[in-house]
Amino acid sequence: SPTSQITHRKTNLVRVALPLQVQEYLEPFHLSVEKLREVSARLRKDLVRGLGKHSHHKAPVKMLPTFVRATPDGTEKGDFLALDLGGTNFRVLHVRVVEEEQKVLKMDSQICAIPKEMMLGPGVQLFDHIAACLNDFLVSQNLKGQTLPLGFTFSFPCEQKEIDKSILIRWTKGFNCSGVEGEDVVKLLKEAIHRRGDYDIGSVAMVNDTVGTMMSCGYRDQSCEIGMIIGTGTNACYMEEIKNVRRVEGEDGRMCINTEWGGFGDDGCLKDIRTEFDVVVDETSINPGIHNFEKMISGMYLGEIVRLLLVRLTENKLLFEGRTSEALLTPDAFETKFMSEIEERDGGLENTQNILTELGLKWDSVDSRIVRLVCNAVSSRSARLCGAALATLANRIRVNRRLDHLKTTVGVDGTVYKKHPNFSEELRATVRLLAPDCDITFLVSEDGSGKGAAMVTAVAQRLAHQTLEIYCFFRVCTL
Ligand code: GLC
Repeated sequence: SPTSQITHRKTNLVRVALPLQVQEYLEPFHLSVEKLREVSARLRKDLVRGLGKHSHHKAPVKMLPTFVRATPDGTEKGDFLALDLGGTNFRVLHVRVVEEEQKVLKMDSQICAIPKEMMLGPGVQLFDHIAACLNDFLVSQNLKGQTLPLGFTFSFPCEQKEIDKSILIRWTKGFNCSGVEGEDVVKLLKEAIHRRGDYDIGSVAMVNDTVGTMMSCGYRDQSCEIGMIIGTGTNACYMEEIKNVRRVEGEDGRMCINTEWGGFGDDGCLKDIRTEFDVVVDETSINPGIHNFEKMISGMYLGEIVRLLLVRLTENKLLFEGRTSEALLTPDAFETKFMSEIEERDGGLENTQNILTELGLKWDSVDSRIVRLVCNAVSSRSARLCGAALATLANRIRVNRRLDHLKTTVGVDGTVYKKHPNFSEELRATVRLLAPDCDITFLVSEDGSGKGAAMVTAVAQRLAHQTLEIYCFFRVCTL
């Protein structure tokens, strides 16, 4: 019988007798260090393509200038509104920046649900909904009647023309609203507010979540020069030498670049490491062919990769005595958060068994151990790929500055990074291997999307006459 061919695989979870055929399915998820080095080298080339004056149009890694230069000031103050769209929840926030104490205080915030149909419907409907949520929030906060400036964390690839002019290149993750790609998002928001006609907002500043994260981490550590998100989607920004950003005039200083590394591989360059399960996840997504790297890494897709693997193993009678369940056969029914619960060091096995029961599956103890290994294979690959990408950025910063050794800090946010039990450790280990000359400190951001957006707005306001240069200041403090 197939299960009589036994090999032993030692993982940090369990020592388990693993049927050879199960191992065959998991093997493509175990990327060797050499392979990760190759991936990093490919990304290194793509960063350069994205920065090039003529090559950026076709580059899969977009490398978008953000017009953010890091220069502390500390004279900003006032009340701000912030919107945060593109992560787990849509949120509206009221933030106060206090000059004397150089603090950012989050006054209040509200989560506003966006129904799935709305994420795929007409853009006008989405922006009307956003304007309505903002109205409800202003009413509940007694702020209606004031015209407050607004920071908009819009976590999608945008070609930023000015701080308040940001053209959506394309939707990613769960959104695909018509009539927004190629349009100025600020204009769409303002039009929706004006259609209502019962309130108004002041100046608007657009921010990507990676940038907000980098900025909000800066107060604890002035050397924070990379912002990274591993949540629903994945992406990073970093400080690049302006002379290398060929699309932007200028020779001196640095500018924050939103890499949009989720699009890495969209030209087919990751074919050799994509598994048949990655191909299915991409093909059945709402945006096939787009953001291949993200689809191997981020929270929106990891659970689905695991589910597809479990279905295949069951069909091949390697799990659950060959019996699936309705839930297991339902797309997206295996949530990414299950992986964190399943892979927990203590109690993980019990969690696994509860989840399998919830999913209507009949399991035995070997099944539950195999399921843990499947989750581990998928999450490890994600962490290692992310580590390889981060190492590429760190190495680039080091070489840019002609340093033998770089000491820098990465601001991180996102549910996968924060919630998964071994993700951050594996990511760090990979970075150490691939960027041995970089000493990287990881700082978990505290609400970078909300507070970071308010910070950028505060600074943009101060420098309203210099629209193309936003100076962020790093004295952010939590309540
Ligand atoms: C997607 C978006 C990107 C964002 C990331 C994390 O990759 O395209 O802009 O930063 O998700 O939310």
